[in-house]
Amino acid sequence: MGRNTRKKLKGQSATVKFGNMNWKGLFSSSLEGETLMVTGGYPESEGEVLVTRIDGKKLRGRRTHFLEPVSEFINQPPCEVFLSCGGCKLQHVDYTKQLQFKTSFLDTVICSIEKSQGNKPELKATIASPRPFSYRNKMEFTFSELREGRFFGMHADGSFGTVVNTNSCHLALEPMQKVIQLVSEWYLSGNVSGYNPYRHTGILRHLVLRGSEYENKVLVNFVATEWHEDIAHIAQKLTEISEVSGVFFTKNASVSDSVIYEEFTPLHGENRLREKLGNYLFDVSMQSFFQVNTGSAERLYQQIEETLIEYGATGGALLDLYCGAGSIGIYLSSHFNDVIGVEEVTEAIADAHTNAELNQIKNAKYLNRKVESLSEEELRAWGAKTIILDPPRSGCHPKARKSVAALKVKHIIYVSCNPRILPENLAEFLSTGYEVISIRPVDLFPQTPHLEAILYLRLKE
Ligand SMILES: C[S@@+](CC[C@H](N)C(=O)[O-])C[C@H]1O[C@@H](n2cnc3c(N)ncnc32)[C@H](O)[C@@H]1O
Repeated sequence: MGRNTRKKLKGQSATVKFGNMNWKGLFSSSLEGETLMVTGGYPESEGEVLVTRIDGKKLRGRRTHFLEPVSEFINQPPCEVFLSCGGCKLQHVDYTKQLQFKTSFLDTVICSIEKSQGNKPELKATIASPRPFSYRNKMEFTFSELREGRFFGMHADGSFGTVVNTNSCHLALEPMQKVIQLVSEWYLSGNVSGYNPYRHTGILRHLVLRGSEYENKVLVNFVATEWHEDIAHIAQKLTEISEVSGVFFTKNASVSDSVIYEEFTPLHGENRLREKLGNYLFDVSMQSFFQVNTGSAERLYQQIEETLIEYGATGGALLDLYCGAGSIGIYLSSHFNDVIGVEEVTEAIADAHTNAELNQIKNAKYLNRKVESLSEEELRAWGAKTIILDPPRSGCHPKARKSVAALKVKHIIYVSCNPRILPENLAEFLSTGYEVISIRPVDLFPQTPHLEAILYLRLKE
């Protein structure tokens, strides 16, 4: 057993029984004594699995079909490239079951909180997304050109270089579909080369789409290593789609694959979309952060508001850390005397100012800084009664945790999109006298294993 067994099993098919789902959306099983993690499984069901690769000391596989009896909670997935595309992991699972599986990730978080504070926080019912499909207002597709040919779509499950061809996406907002189809046809039969991430050759890298449900509009951004005149032609063609309100070009000639907005050129239209959450309007640009599921974001903000009211955490000043385009603070602004938002992305701060003005919010201020660069004294100067922390998936920087916890404000709302790192991120707060009172899961990412959660922390008397 060991490495040689794993090598021998790669490429083979076998019948296995599936166990629980992990945080990556993979179902555990075993084959000839080796751990096999499978996409497309279902707990306590049996199925045929193709072993696709070796992943460290484990095998990775893809379920090809289930054996009878098939659970009533297993659905026919609507997408043709489901299981080869890395975008979704759970289309085959009934949506209410998806929510159950994801909520169970919080068990270890609750256990670790209980160990530290001596009691369990209240786990509130999970709030579902208004729509389980066609919800994403931001999408990123990859153009690639390898020895095997040209590809346009999402990265294959767990792969850096392989892209699965597709000309639609069931997660994307409806008006994006025409754009995806047109760009896919243009690229696969056109003159502009795609990027090869191994050799760093080729031109087109990414197609980034941002949509607004409120306006039914889409912004389109081509990311490429250099300009090519044919991009101007497709950009012109895209403006014939009535929902397209802006087309842009971003140059990225670096080896880094992430979309960097250093050289951003408008080709058509305006770099702005308008969204509505509750009674508030929000202008967002291509560059700034906005929650990817607008309907769920509204539910998330409603829940934050209800939590603050329930625990008497309103009034005084609100410090909205990692504020993006200012949306949470603006949504809550009527409950506070002052709102201070802190955010590192300059364009997002510009959007936050625009949004405060758009909604005639007079009590909001913004600071374009990294949260961890603020000293305890700088943070204290705002005299906050309540703090909202809504960090990126990587969590709060240790320096930020330390200085925020040291302020000892009474109420903290920690919005997490990564339960896995929560125990580590909460440790500083729990050791400085805070108690986690409640956790409210909210689903912003149907068909994927990701889950958002609102944690309410209170300083002990
Ligand atoms: C999960 S988003 C939350 C945005 C906002 N609260 C909302 O609901 O739309 C995290 C935000 O933190 C910003 N960010 C990431 N690291 C940061 C840091 N070290 N300091 C300040 N802002 C940061 C990102 O640009 C992003 O806007």
